[in-house]
Amino acid sequence: MSEKIAVIPGDGIGPEVVAQTRLVLDHVHPGLEYETFDLGADHWQATGEVLNDDTLSRLAQADAILLGAVGAAPGSTTIPSGLLERGLLLKLRFAFDHAVNLRPSTLYPGVPTPLSDAVVSGKTVDFVVVREGTEGLYCGNGGVVRPGTDAEIATEVSVNTAYGVERVVRYAFSLAATRRRRLTLVHKHNVLVNAGGLWRRIVAAVGEEFPDVTSDYLHVDAATIALVTNPDRFDVIVTDNLFGDILTDEAAAITGGIGLAASANLNVSGTYPSMFEPVHGSAPDIAGKGLADPRAAILSGAMMLDHLGHREDAARVRHAVEVDIAANPGGSRSTDQIGRAVVAAIS
Ligand code: IPM
Ligand code: MN
Repeated sequence: MSEKIAVIPGDGIGPEVVAQTRLVLDHVHPGLEYETFDLGADHWQATGEVLNDDTLSRLAQADAILLGAVGAAPGSTTIPSGLLERGLLLKLRFAFDHAVNLRPSTLYPGVPTPLSDAVVSGKTVDFVVVREGTEGLYCGNGGVVRPGTDAEIATEVSVNTAYGVERVVRYAFSLAATRRRRLTLVHKHNVLVNAGGLWRRIVAAVGEEFPDVTSDYLHVDAATIALVTNPDRFDVIVTDNLFGDILTDEAAAITGGIGLAASANLNVSGTYPSMFEPVHGSAPDIAGKGLADPRAAILSGAMMLDHLGHREDAARVRHAVEVDIAANPGGSRSTDQIGRAVVAAIS
């Protein structure tokens, strides 16, 4: 039986990069069944709805979700900031319990990086950020009192449950055990003593079960330095939702840019579909111009194939992207030129 993939092309460059991803997937693994869901800015403008319960339950029936990007231009006067992010993207991550937000970063040979030669030459920059996906400052625990007055109070409270932290930490240790066996917890436990204490204790406890994996710790500010001075020290980074959001943009920037950064939002219990999306946003400034690099979305498609158990086909996609990168370091090709080149590189 073929798997059902729900596709949410979304806003801005989302539909452009998803179209190229579909070409690659159709070539490498024909037979997946796709259903497109037109959600995002245009849908909201046309209907006043972001994501209704009926659509949510149809999405829940899929075996996986492929998402392009959602979000309006930062300066939009018609779409309130956060409406699509909270009402669509984060709603899906929370409703489908995407505990693990997996974001690999590899610096491929020949790819331009802002890092100096001294930092990268002869080194392996290849690490994965395991970002917690359902808690922290993202979960909407807050509010506003006396809005618009001089006495306004605005809160967002970071939520960290032992259950939520343990499952993402366990995933990160298991992943590290299959890689270079080094896990780094990134937090800020010298200031966020409550949440930081919980994360530290859980890393120590779960670490006992993985004697072959060494673990260390960095405060998040120090981690931003280490990423640019010493990135080869990292194998698996485990961190909370907001730190992970910030670090993965930096991680993308040092490994060839946001145009190559893929991600998976994993439901680790298999109760709901996992979701695969490029780390980048909808980039309205370049939308419709054929300027978007579809390889982050294509690599996210490879993560989806992996998740569905089609490991060889996933590896073929990754290999094709690597071949394409090697043949075209930098360059200024259009979105569909890149997509076609990746298809042509599939063996
Ligand atoms: C990401 C994005 C989202 C996030 C936004 C669009 C809500 O920046 O996937 O990294 O903050 O998680
Ligand atoms: Mn982000």
